Amino acid sequence: MMQTHNLVRFLALSGLQLAAAVDANGADALAKCPGYKASNIKTTGHGLKADLHLAGPKCNAYGTDLDDLKLDVTVETSDRVHVKIYDAAEHVYQVPESVFPRPKPAKGCSTNAALKFDYTENPFSFRILRTETKEVLFDSSAAGLVMEDQYLRLRTHLPTDTNLYGLGEHSDSLRLKTTNYTRTLWNADMPSIPNNRNLYGSHPVYIEHRTSGSHGVFLLSSNGMDIFIDKDKNGQYLEYNILGGVFDFYFMAGPTPIDVTKQYAEIAGLPVTVPYSGLGFHHCRWGYQDAFAVAEAVYNYSKAGIPLETMWTDIDYMDARAIFSLDPQRFPLKVMRELVAHLHANKQKYVVMVDPAVAAKNYGPYNNGVKDDIFILNSTKQTFHGVVWPGLTAYPDWFADGVQQYWNKEFAEFFSPESGLDIDFLWIDMNEPANFCDFPCLDPVAAAKEYPPPAPAVRHPPRDLPGWPCDFQPPGTSCKRVLSEQRLSPPADLDDEAKEFVMVSSRDNEAESSHTSKKWKGLPNRELISPPYKIHNFWGPLPHKSINTSLVHHNGLTLFDTHNLYGTMMSAASRQAMLARRPSKRPLVITRSTFAGAGSHVSHWLGDNDSDWPHYRWSISGMLQFASIFQVSMVGSDVCGFNGNTTEELCARWSSLGAFQPFYRNHNAEGMIDQEFYVWKSVTEAARRAIDIRYRLLDYFYTAMMRQSQDGTPAMNPMFYIYSNDKNTFGLDLQFFWGPSLLVAPVTEQGSTSVDIYLPDDIFYDFYTHEQIRGEGKNITKRDQGLADIPLFFRGGVIVPLRIKSAMTTTDLREQDFELVIPVGKDGTAKGALYLDDGDSLKPDATSNIEFEYKKGQLAVNGSFGYKTKAKIAKVTLLGVSSSQSGEAGSSGSITVDKPLTQPFTVQV
Ligand code: GLC
Repeated sequence: MMQTHNLVRFLALSGLQLAAAVDANGADALAKCPGYKASNIKTTGHGLKADLHLAGPKCNAYGTDLDDLKLDVTVETSDRVHVKIYDAAEHVYQVPESVFPRPKPAKGCSTNAALKFDYTENPFSFRILRTETKEVLFDSSAAGLVMEDQYLRLRTHLPTDTNLYGLGEHSDSLRLKTTNYTRTLWNADMPSIPNNRNLYGSHPVYIEHRTSGSHGVFLLSSNGMDIFIDKDKNGQYLEYNILGGVFDFYFMAGPTPIDVTKQYAEIAGLPVTVPYSGLGFHHCRWGYQDAFAVAEAVYNYSKAGIPLETMWTDIDYMDARAIFSLDPQRFPLKVMRELVAHLHANKQKYVVMVDPAVAAKNYGPYNNGVKDDIFILNSTKQTFHGVVWPGLTAYPDWFADGVQQYWNKEFAEFFSPESGLDIDFLWIDMNEPANFCDFPCLDPVAAAKEYPPPAPAVRHPPRDLPGWPCDFQPPGTSCKRVLSEQRLSPPADLDDEAKEFVMVSSRDNEAESSHTSKKWKGLPNRELISPPYKIHNFWGPLPHKSINTSLVHHNGLTLFDTHNLYGTMMSAASRQAMLARRPSKRPLVITRSTFAGAGSHVSHWLGDNDSDWPHYRWSISGMLQFASIFQVSMVGSDVCGFNGNTTEELCARWSSLGAFQPFYRNHNAEGMIDQEFYVWKSVTEAARRAIDIRYRLLDYFYTAMMRQSQDGTPAMNPMFYIYSNDKNTFGLDLQFFWGPSLLVAPVTEQGSTSVDIYLPDDIFYDFYTHEQIRGEGKNITKRDQGLADIPLFFRGGVIVPLRIKSAMTTTDLREQDFELVIPVGKDGTAKGALYLDDGDSLKPDATSNIEFEYKKGQLAVNGSFGYKTKAKIAKVTLLGVSSSQSGEAGSSGSITVDKPLTQPFTVQV
């Protein structure tokens, strides 16, 4: 049976589809907008400045035209130009520095700039060109510039049916449609992540790929917007229609797609490093009704021989679904501490969910929040209330003074290793922010009545979980006690520590210095609930399913302007709170809602998908969007699907595909049939096999992930990232590269056992048989792919380090020796890398950056070897040359070696 709350959300979804409609009068007025005239133009050492004045009578299409603007153009690096158009008075809202720290321009770059800015004075428009070829990449003359207090428009010409990627979060094809296509950015709780809709996150950045090169365009704006991509008599265009803010563009020169991605990381930040163990397999479900059910799933995974690294618990653990509380009957503290201690003793990890909304009832987290004045307030300065899982709730205001200390303190207390729930990683959700009290939400108390649902009846053991602590055993069973009886000691006052972390937080650098000034705070007298221009928000009115956009933060900003930042601000605060608990450990925080730059704080899962084949397929483009474009490197879908019942076949296929997502987690909605990998024999087998491969490749993958965190090189690659001159790759999003070498090409159709795979002109090797396959720029068909099979190929030219054997936990995996697979490329050579460290220190003091190079029968291993490991290289496998060329190599192409990873060496292969 479908869970009631989900059902309510589904019905509402279908009922509101007609809600967004652009005001016809506004559209007429738009035709009369006068545009702007540039004057007082001054070139500076590294750019240009000008004044822009409204060039005629105001058109007031969807608000009031702004008379005086400023233009600032800065060549910030040799690959990046920053173009900013803003109100001369600087009262119009701009994304705060504390949330999105601006990149610093490099010194002395304007002489060799790859991009050039060009403009027309009257009416003002601008172009971005490639300096060398004069190719126009962006041209705002496609329509007049409109800048009003409630509406902004800018349109660029583009080549017909050009290749565009990004502008998410969306569940559409990776390459965006170019006809009659709208991308709306307005963060929303969006069950079933439908196509063509605004979803949980906003990333106003795109990559445009042409055969002449790739470039990127990032618009730093958190205001709600529609981006229209279409063509008319004047040709192809892309048009921004924004509810406010300024035009703050960053143009990135590429020229390869990977270059653009790296250049974007210089703006939005490098993705956080993730713990090695975070790459292990995670299991979650909503609806485990007590600690014993959670324990039973862990037990069953180990019985089935499926490596489970991390067990998760959803909102079920909470007392009446209030965050920072435990249900005393079903998830009592003592039992939960035993559960966590047992997991830790078995080298496994534990995660729970934290929502932002705090239950508005007489309990510590709410009372503290009121006392510390960190909740969002309404117009009468009372705590604003909405409705989330626990019923009536208050929402932390991430701009409030002291909110970080509040969050740190609640985390320190509830997640105390000594006396609370000692989680390893964190899951945050509902942070669009979501609200079940439908707009206009006049009576939240009444709307809260159906929440929380009554807790299910308490079940008692026995369940027979041999090896588990006594509390998990039938009475009278001999069992060991993991923890001694403990009294919950009063939490330490972590105020000082909390303060220290707030000081080092990048979020705090500017500290809203202009607290009292009007700078960037947003123009007064705007229509903050229902502005004249209606973006195509799927939910209709802006605040519907979220909180009122007219609310004002403690620092004077309005939710109208900051709505899209809420999830990312919660993310940053939660990462800090995790760091405050364990300053030296890398946090892993998985969030639902994101904004540009979120990857520098947290990781992401793709939200509430459905258990069906389309969602299985879309999980690939969803993953690639975040990992390869938005610089959120750790990302994945709910494996086997969330809403609706999965099937054995789908779950088997997804257990394999999911093993090649950076974030690999099986998650299921309440009320759905069980989908733990051990439920079906075929899925057990598929999962075991896929995890075995994933774990053997984990260091290869970790190396790629760490590299992305160091210089932005994407760990996941769409096909066109690697073969950017091959037009056939531009639209592919059902196959991809995991790291620089491994081509992953799953079966994508229900009932099918074969898959067509596009192989560009290059050398590939079957991962399983090592057979060499000459790619010819056309499809090959892989047949007879059973439920436990997923086609994988090495790309010639990239050396891949694999652990010789997998293990039940990533801790044990790290003890295993390595095999180096050398799939030689077209020129008979190959190169590769291996990064090693302890896997979880925030700043590891010892690291190894090992480089492999193969040519002419010799493998050279060089680099740095600071990290001490007993694991050595035990085997070298050469693929692609005959045995006469391969020197000592046996007929299989493998040789046994015994080389410690402590110093450089060479081997004949
Ligand atoms: C939201 C989350 C989902 C979670 C559920 C209950 O729908 O997206 O993952 O299971 O809330 O907490």
